[in-house]
Amino acid sequence: MERTLSIIKPDAVSRNLSGAILKMIQDAGLKVVAMKMIQLSKAEAEGFYAVHKARPFFGSLVDFMISGPVVVSILEGDDAIARYRKLMGATNPAGAEEGTIRKIHALDIEKNSVHGSDAPETAAFETSYFFSALEMVG
Ligand code: CMP
Repeated sequence: MERTLSIIKPDAVSRNLSGAILKMIQDAGLKVVAMKMIQLSKAEAEGFYAVHKARPFFGSLVDFMISGPVVVSILEGDDAIARYRKLMGATNPAGAEEGTIRKIHALDIEKNSVHGSDAPETAAFETSYFFSALEMVG
């Protein structure tokens, strides 16, 4: 069993797509073991994306991530990290496979509707960034 962090980003939450995206996640057999809707502060978004601090898109990404509420959740399952990344599709929706969340719902490379952890180490950091052990209930 593996756990990964999912964020449904402001572009998707504001278009009332949280339910549709959660249905895709659950239909794929991933189990939601923690979930909440929150409004990130600038410092919280900067801390979450600290690994991208030197990238040219960092400032714009932080502004986007604090532009409205997000739905964060922890997904559990065999090989959950890779399975969720496959379900999300490529970062840039223009190159995402048919049937993926980003192909169906994302607007562009920044407003790409969802985030998922990319490795076990980042999943451990990202899940504990948003949830305490007591909040993981699955
Ligand atoms: P995410 O998977 O959350 O990881 C970093 C985010 O930065 C990415 O999704 C996009 O929302 C955003 N982003 C904006 N521009 C780029 C880019 N050129 N390459 C990668 N990520 C980008």
